[in-house]
Amino acid sequence: MPEHLISIADLEDGQLESLLELALELQARPEAHRRTLHGKSIGLYFEKSSTRTRVSFEVGMGQLGGQAIFLTTRDLQIGRGETIADTARVLSRYVDMLMLRTFEHSTVVEMARHATVPVINGLTDELHPCQALADLMTVHREFGELRGRRIAYIGDGNNVAHSLMIACARAGVDFSIASPPGYAVADKYLELARGLAAGKGAGIETGSDPQAAAAGADAVYSDVWTSMGQEKERKQRLADFEGYTVDDDLMARAKGDAIYLHCLPCHRGEEVTASVVDGPQSRVFDQAENRMHTQKAVMLRLLDHA
Ligand code: CP
Ligand code: NVA
Repeated sequence: MPEHLISIADLEDGQLESLLELALELQARPEAHRRTLHGKSIGLYFEKSSTRTRVSFEVGMGQLGGQAIFLTTRDLQIGRGETIADTARVLSRYVDMLMLRTFEHSTVVEMARHATVPVINGLTDELHPCQALADLMTVHREFGELRGRRIAYIGDGNNVAHSLMIACARAGVDFSIASPPGYAVADKYLELARGLAAGKGAGIETGSDPQAAAAGADAVYSDVWTSMGQEKERKQRLADFEGYTVDDDLMARAKGDAIYLHCLPCHRGEEVTASVVDGPQSRVFDQAENRMHTQKAVMLRLLDHA
């Protein structure tokens, strides 16, 4: 395993698959690692809101026998100007691992540079690697072998899209994305993913036509149009993303047994209709559950305990 999990690209060949295998084992036999991390702790630092990430890390660490400590900007001296570097050095003396959810991606990178314990990216403005692990686990649970499958992502080329694209490339899963003009994935992550995908024989297709992206896909994915920190752009985004709602017609373009995925929280009537997210093809609550299994696997591996 790498020292930190900042991006899925940090995982070397085979490590992603191996993490998913461990997560599947943890789901099947939760008693297997009941006390493995007894006496260990993780600090969970949030600059943004969270339901899934916070609770799945807290409960997951508890299930492994360890302790999680919830921290926010408001409570820490970071909010009063203590540097990230000093915070990293101090927290490293108390806890065995750190997880961060921040606005700036550079905050997580800076924390990892100065921490002497593993750092996990729990979402930044650019990436959401923990989500991508749960996404692939969900597809794996549904279809078995990941290679040769295709995930279609409809909407904003955001943090979730970046990590999912990189994870697909790593795992040899084809990825097609349709975003409105001006909302495409960042070039640096596209190049990174294309480089990884080439070695796996996987394809990455970008464009702006949702129908073309969804055609023949095994899974159709969408995320909110306005991410945390972009609230002021909401009105503009609602207009710009018109036509990018995943509805029954779009799902009908995908394979007959295709599933629908969303990292949640979702906005029914915007990036997805209620009929799809609450319908028979939706796996969004399994996906949310899988956050916990995959993150338990990450914590065990980063501490070299599995
Ligand atoms: N998907 C996800 O990260 O959810 P939260 O924002 O609730 O943590
Ligand atoms: N793209 C969303 C994901 C939330 C889990 C956001 O950053 O707000």
